[in-house]
Amino acid sequence: MPLEIQLRVASPIDLAGDVLVVGVFQAGKSGVLPPSLHLVDTALGGALSKQAAKEEFTGKRDQVLSLSTLGRITAEKIVLLGLGERRSVGAPEVRTLASKAARTANGDKAKSLALALPAGLEGEMRAVGEGLELGAYRFTKYLTGDRKPKVALASVAVGAGAKMKPNAKVLLASGQKIGEAINLARDLSNEPSNVIYPETFAHAAEAVAKAGGLKIQVFDFKEIRRRGMKLIDAVGRGSAHEPRFVHIAWTPKGAKKKLVFVGKGITFDSGGLSIKPAAGMGDMKHDMSGAANVVGLMAAVAALKPKVEVHAIAALAENMPDGNAYRPGDVWGSLDGKTVEIINTDAEGRLVLADALAYARGLTPDLIVDNATLTGACVVALGNTCSGWYANDEAVAREFAAAIKDSGESMWRMPLLDDLREQIKSEVADVKQTGERWGGSITAALFLREFAGDAKWIHCDIAGPAALERPMAWMQAKGASGHAVLTFLSLIERSAK
Ligand code: BES
Ligand code: MN
Ligand code: ZN
Repeated sequence: MPLEIQLRVASPIDLAGDVLVVGVFQAGKSGVLPPSLHLVDTALGGALSKQAAKEEFTGKRDQVLSLSTLGRITAEKIVLLGLGERRSVGAPEVRTLASKAARTANGDKAKSLALALPAGLEGEMRAVGEGLELGAYRFTKYLTGDRKPKVALASVAVGAGAKMKPNAKVLLASGQKIGEAINLARDLSNEPSNVIYPETFAHAAEAVAKAGGLKIQVFDFKEIRRRGMKLIDAVGRGSAHEPRFVHIAWTPKGAKKKLVFVGKGITFDSGGLSIKPAAGMGDMKHDMSGAANVVGLMAAVAALKPKVEVHAIAALAENMPDGNAYRPGDVWGSLDGKTVEIINTDAEGRLVLADALAYARGLTPDLIVDNATLTGACVVALGNTCSGWYANDEAVAREFAAAIKDSGESMWRMPLLDDLREQIKSEVADVKQTGERWGGSITAALFLREFAGDAKWIHCDIAGPAALERPMAWMQAKGASGHAVLTFLSLIERSAK
């Protein structure tokens, strides 16, 4: 259920809600509250300014001041969240503010939230809508009895300055749609692998397509084999759950560009015969986050209706060991036609992506963007908050860098080092599946590049931030983050201009 949000030109004292969250720009002196808070401070007998002075609250980025109001104003609790200096605050910071506000309200078992924005941020209503939905997100469907949250945030009163834009409500509503779309991607990724496997993932994708009026095709295992997607066959054959291939399309009239987004959809990655160690194996339920992202992205596209053709492709398989599983030393063909020497059955992501990229090329797109929880090496390189991206074209790379700047997501460009290409040369096949240990994220990208052919292509390795151990920016819930969807959406909207 989306939050019920009311937008008002109002100061904090006039906003009703169980919890009142106020965004505060950084001021020179501690304890000096913005004028908009003077009435609240008076109602609290000066307790707010006193506490602000004591805690040296200046509105620095991420500073928090929290005070019980003892019933002197409508809200039971007031929380000031520091935004940092005015000139450093844009959409990403507003999104984070709104997300933290919603998270705080849920944490306080509040049903209603009042969120006061400082004057000057009236233009950022889309980020407010996004942040509120994203921050309210929790994955609680498997909790029962006492563990089940009894209260959930349901309504929000947003207070803004007098310079409200006429389209503010529309922006707020589309922000909510985007937030919900990202939450959908998070839900898919958080689902355990006994519930979400290729077949059920495809059903979920069908539901999204239906709700959004999008075209969808689902290839079953027979069709995957018939089409010659031999690498998806190789990866998926060791599981009792058969692979699936999903293609969703948004094809508006008069579209000038065609973008294809590809997601790795390994619904569980045991490693296959090259089995993973037990510790942490459960995290591999998230190994379909790339596929979840592209489905979530399409839900956002259905809501925003950009004048760009957008396709989403999910290559879905479960990587398991059994008598029918593929093995190290095997040589497999591919949809592209190239043969691949298998080295390690745990490097399965690049294989399903290779067939998905070959299929994507067939759509003659202006750009292919893949995203995948592809390598531990990328996490070693960049840590677990930042993804690594690669591009085979500089103009496209500039566009993508601009989209990252819009979204505020943490993504770092990595090089396609031709020096490492030697590592994926094979004696017995056209390409070797993996290189040596060092540069593992790069050799995975070089392998994929073989299958992108001459298409313009971007590859995002989201292995680190796809699932988070601790909250970060607007991603306040642990587990699946939905990282990268905002950047992709921004890329789409830029292409529509
Ligand atoms: N799904 C994993 C990568 C991964 C690691 C994702 C950590 C999220 C967190 C991938 O399929 C994998 O197992 N990659 C191997 C490749 C290696 C065998 C060449 C890896 O990174 O160890
Ligand atoms: Mn693997
Ligand atoms: Zn994997």
